[in-house]
Amino acid sequence: MRRWLAAASIMMAGVLGLAACGGGGGGESSQQPAAGGGKQQVEVFSWWTGPGEADGLAEMRKIFEQQNSGYSFFDAAVAGGSGDKAKALLESKLQAGQPPDTFQGHAGAELQGYIKAGNLEDLTFLYDELKLKDVFPQQLVDQISVDGKIYSVPVNIHRSNVLWFNPGVLKEAGVAAAPKTIDEFIAALEKVKATGKIPLSIGSEWTVTHLLENVLLGSLGTDAYNALFKPGGNWAGPEVAKALESFNKIMSYAGDPQDDWQPAAKQVADGQAAFNIMGDWAYGYFHNPPEGGLGKTSKTDFDWAPAPGTEGTYLWLSDSFTLPKGAKHRDGAIAWLKVAAGKEGQDAFNPKKGSIPARTDADKSLYTDYLADALKDWSDNKLAGSVQHGVSVNQPWLAAITEAVGLYISSKDVKALQQGLADAATANAQ
Ligand code: GAL
Repeated sequence: MRRWLAAASIMMAGVLGLAACGGGGGGESSQQPAAGGGKQQVEVFSWWTGPGEADGLAEMRKIFEQQNSGYSFFDAAVAGGSGDKAKALLESKLQAGQPPDTFQGHAGAELQGYIKAGNLEDLTFLYDELKLKDVFPQQLVDQISVDGKIYSVPVNIHRSNVLWFNPGVLKEAGVAAAPKTIDEFIAALEKVKATGKIPLSIGSEWTVTHLLENVLLGSLGTDAYNALFKPGGNWAGPEVAKALESFNKIMSYAGDPQDDWQPAAKQVADGQAAFNIMGDWAYGYFHNPPEGGLGKTSKTDFDWAPAPGTEGTYLWLSDSFTLPKGAKHRDGAIAWLKVAAGKEGQDAFNPKKGSIPARTDADKSLYTDYLADALKDWSDNKLAGSVQHGVSVNQPWLAAITEAVGLYISSKDVKALQQGLADAATANAQ
């Protein structure tokens, strides 16, 4: 039986009142959408504005609009991969009593924070009406529930621990196959370095935390990784020290930091870099036709393997949509949630998004290539929860980890990083 992390959480601390917003097809998400053509506008808040991500949202939007002629979709997406900017703005909107009609939140500790802060309506009525308990895995429902009440609709399952690589660059460097262990990875990075290509591409700061969770899992193993997030998790011991030494070594092969995950992933697809460790949203970006994606050919322009040392484990996360208390267009938001929860919505969204459906009754024939591998692995792998994407740690804890990683990026001081991570756990683990 799968071992899902017990979701721990505390009240969300007030985060920065950031105003960076806009993107996608939306507009200023801090403004209330004006009613248009007599239709009720439904403000859907996410961070899916960029190439690859926006394609999935657009598919779900199409279905929403087809099925709901009385509502129009207002795209309140805030640019910035992984939602750091979006979540900061969201927090200020929630604190000001101006929630969007529905917002994206990660299943697990992140969502538990919104629930415990009293931000969300109980959606049990929707689960009963649509018989959703029959189609979502119980363990996933547990991640979005408190005291038996269910607070969001999961739309997908993403995988964090994917090593994306360029087969041609590996060949040129004499790397015969995707590295399976951290040591093999470091040896491969060294070989690529000798060719003058970028061994490992990297994006903005959050992608470093994303890399860190992958190296922790790959170095510690699944059980020890999962234990880090339980009370008393040992962040100060020699195992984490060893993992962080490897992380530091791996980081020494990183190219110039790119603005976000897409340009870092693109360096691999374009043959400038050998490797990138990124979630499988990168698949949508590589594979989707030009306009949204790069229109690249899998196995030729890009290939994939589990991040080194993590084979047999799915480092998972799940995007879900919510009904905030005080949503101005509550009926429209419920209409959106019905599409997000539905088979048609999920089967339109996920193949473009690079994720597999949260529903267990999806049309498997739509999930080919990388996504067929993902579906298979999801069915039999062990599970570990993502740090950067809201499963294992709540937002205050993630903020403390982000701070420690930020300091590390400028100082490269591994001991200070370990101390910072240990302090973050002591202050936030429950
Ligand atoms: C994650 C999110 C994914 C994807 C990614 C990159 O946090 O769950 O759906 O959007 O960020 O932006």
